[in-house]
Amino acid sequence: MEKYKIIETIGDGTYGIVYKGINTKTNEYVAIKKMKKKYTDWDECLSLKEVQTLLTLKHSNIVTLNELILQKNELNMIFEFIGQNLFEYAKNMNEIPEYKIRNISFQILQGLAYMHKNNFFHRDMKPENILISGDQVKLADFGLARDINSEPPFTDYVATRWYRSPEVILNSKIYSSPIDIFALGAIIAELYTGVPLFPGKEVSYQMNKICEVLGTPSQSDWNEGYDLANQIHFKFPQYRGKKLKNVIHRASDLAINLLEMMLCFNPSKRPSAVKCLQHPFFQCNEILRYFGFNVKKEENEEKKNNNNNFAMSMNSRSNNFLNLIEEGNNNNHSGNKQKKQNEFNYEEDVFFSQNNSNSKLQKSNNNLKRFEDFLGN
Ligand SMILES: Nc1ncnc2c1ncn2[C@@H]1O[C@H](COP(=O)(O)OP(=O)(O)OP(=O)(O)O)[C@@H](O)[C@H]1O
Ligand SMILES: [Mg+2]
Repeated sequence: MEKYKIIETIGDGTYGIVYKGINTKTNEYVAIKKMKKKYTDWDECLSLKEVQTLLTLKHSNIVTLNELILQKNELNMIFEFIGQNLFEYAKNMNEIPEYKIRNISFQILQGLAYMHKNNFFHRDMKPENILISGDQVKLADFGLARDINSEPPFTDYVATRWYRSPEVILNSKIYSSPIDIFALGAIIAELYTGVPLFPGKEVSYQMNKICEVLGTPSQSDWNEGYDLANQIHFKFPQYRGKKLKNVIHRASDLAINLLEMMLCFNPSKRPSAVKCLQHPFFQCNEILRYFGFNVKKEENEEKKNNNNNFAMSMNSRSNNFLNLIEEGNNNNHSGNKQKKQNEFNYEEDVFFSQNNSNSKLQKSNNNLKRFEDFLGN
């Protein structure tokens, strides 16, 4: 730990305190998450779900864990430092333009698609757990992440109320990755309006908030939901619902269409992260051009929409768009390889986890093939 100097505290959560620090050897900023619980040995540290998840998932839209340091029974997780969280970012912006919301949502979905394909789901998606620096967005805080294949029932769930999906509110014990999609729908809506979409004041009132906006689901919309409600003697509050367009005024019709799907009551009808990425909201000419298609530029196109800015920002970080496709196709394989490597690569009190080799830019003709695969996926 000697090489790190703590600059300030940036978060004090349930399980750890997060500091901004600097590596005095390289002058790089880092985020240091010091866990509150005491640890006696590496086995105990490495069995932590958060650690296991971070060591398995390597993606340009997932925060990078650089090192684990166990010192004086304290576990320190050393992360790359990413400017601010999405809550702070939104608070400092007057109105986030749609092309930026599209860009942010796109990157979050890429992180989720990668995570879900690797059999993890996040379980605590909220603006404070998403980090942003310039145009780069990364998922963080995997403290509640779960293995999709781990045996339900999941009883230890305490995640943030406003982003909880209906099935979690109704005490489902077998929920899965669709809860991240619902939470992200609520987050994207909040990026447009600057206020939470479902700000329930207490747990029992949270479903009211959701029904008030989305309208009460019918039994045929969500039969399993009615079963869950019966089991806990809950009666759905009766609301006709508001049109999302009337709640999220600034959003384009395509954005509203995507959000309506992401915020579906029935988890089995919610699109997967990969399906969301294929939604026309993300398929603008500039992305096609970026992938090498010869799309004719219309006169005054820039005036008609501001997707150009999106394309430019994608170009400046061109790895991102490609990673999903590359990693989505053979992620299990690379995930296992990564895990193996990590298992043997530690010494003394420092556990090195870094090898971000899977984010290489592909040759452009491969890109076209991948893009076609991606669309047809
Ligand atoms: N790598 C990072 N770079 C910059 N800031 C970070 C980083 N990781 C975390 N933070 C900041 O610290 C805050 C808390 O981090 P994190 O969510 O991982 O901790 P936590 O203990 O789980 O907190 P909570 O219980 O409040 O969710 C984040 O909201 C973010 O503002
Ligand atoms: Mg957090």
